[in-house]
Amino acid sequence: MSDGKEAIVVGQIGCGTVGSGVVRILRDNASIISRRVGKDIAVKRIAVRDLSDPRYVEVPEEMLTTEAMEVIGDPEVDIVVEVMGGIEPARTFILEAISRGKHVVCANKELMSTHGEELLRAAEEKGVDLAYEAAVGGGIPILMPLKESLAGNVIDQVLGIVNGTTNYILTRMSEEGLDFGEALAKAQELGYAEADPSYDVEGKDAAAKLAILASMAFNSRVTLSDVYAEGITSITPDDISFARELGYVIKLLAIAKDEPDGISVRVHPTMIPERHPLAAVRDENNAIFVSGDAVGELMFYGKGAGSLPAASAVVGDVISIARNILTGGRLVGCTCFFQKPVKDMKDVRCRYFMIFDVPDRPGVLAKIAGVFGENQVSIKSVIQHGTGREARIVLVTHEVREENIRATVRGLEGLEEVNRVASLIRVEDPGEE
Ligand SMILES: NC(=O)c1ccc[n+]([C@@H]2O[C@H](COP(=O)([O-])OP(=O)(O)OC[C@H]3O[C@@H](n4cnc5c(N)ncnc54)[C@H](OP(=O)(O)O)[C@@H]3O)[C@@H](O)[C@H]2O)c1
Repeated sequence: MSDGKEAIVVGQIGCGTVGSGVVRILRDNASIISRRVGKDIAVKRIAVRDLSDPRYVEVPEEMLTTEAMEVIGDPEVDIVVEVMGGIEPARTFILEAISRGKHVVCANKELMSTHGEELLRAAEEKGVDLAYEAAVGGGIPILMPLKESLAGNVIDQVLGIVNGTTNYILTRMSEEGLDFGEALAKAQELGYAEADPSYDVEGKDAAAKLAILASMAFNSRVTLSDVYAEGITSITPDDISFARELGYVIKLLAIAKDEPDGISVRVHPTMIPERHPLAAVRDENNAIFVSGDAVGELMFYGKGAGSLPAASAVVGDVISIARNILTGGRLVGCTCFFQKPVKDMKDVRCRYFMIFDVPDRPGVLAKIAGVFGENQVSIKSVIQHGTGREARIVLVTHEVREENIRATVRGLEGLEEVNRVASLIRVEDPGEE
């Protein structure tokens, strides 16, 4: 496609946080990239929404346009980089680029977690590459390792801290004793959280990333709507300090497991042991923990967002495709050749941490134990904190189905002897039953 041309030509849609980083890396590291590829890579045109918006990087005026179709339709463009985000019109632009025989790189988790199958199939049919490393974990290489370096393994689980905003908030709550609102305000002040933080704090961003990770790890398509998502807005300083008392840290975990009866995919606040490598991931950092039958346990750690980290992943994809253009190679396309069922959340089994408040009087514990027994929930450990007329019961269960724990909570809430169920947090503790 680029035969006779001096460079592999990139056309970009979007020049915001990630797009400006792509321009910067391709410009600042042009010489080493050219040596590594064997040819220059040049950005020719960039589509933006508003020409008068300030740019984080210097871009010659004549390079910019507000018409994405001018970029996609340019016959010199070999690779279209979509870094505008959202589902439409990004989906239409990518399909259009593919239909014109362009390779595509995007960073778009929303789109790939909902329309990934359609886009990958279109690329396959047209014989072009579609890469999206930056969509999960920002600068952390994880999709390419799953598809290539770890392809000899059976992967049975992927656990990730894949949202920097929520990890920052939970770290501040844990280390400074802040409540959720105070920690969120701090994250917003520092630019780690959006003015409307709901996409992050309600677990939706992590859910989109998990759908992509699970599809790749288990070779079976998982879409965003399959993922159970619960955010961190109800986590309290009490939860964090009781967790600590029991030797746990609370993280918003994205959990994917390939189990005999189906795939479970869920994002929720999770108590993990202090000794777990993910417990040490602080502030806005991300990490993805993978278990493979041959390799054992691996953790990929780094910056999950930000202009240059995310652009690093985009440029890596551009370089892989540029090499393919020169050698006639192709990237590994869609690897979802199984159709494994995705488990309903009510059928997922795990351990639970619970806090509830009861009047401090005789006979109460027996009544409560009855509700647990009726629902086949067995208790692993209990701590009781007396506060005069009220007692606070903090307990951890053995592994049980989610459906049973929900019935237990309903049963407890219906008891006159329970003032309130204050918390219910899932526990991920490998090695414990
Ligand atoms: N930010 C991160 O750290 C990060 C990390 C990993 C992945 N991502 C993903 O990367 C993508 C881009 O994110 P971002 O943070 O860079 O977003 P952003 O800062 O909001 O930039 C979006 C860019 O797209 C342009 N744009 C929007 N609609 C357009 C249209 N219809 N036609 C042409 N251009 C259009 C905007 O133009 P104007 O500048 O004129 O408004 C802007 O330059 C998203 O999919 C996001 O999920 C982001």
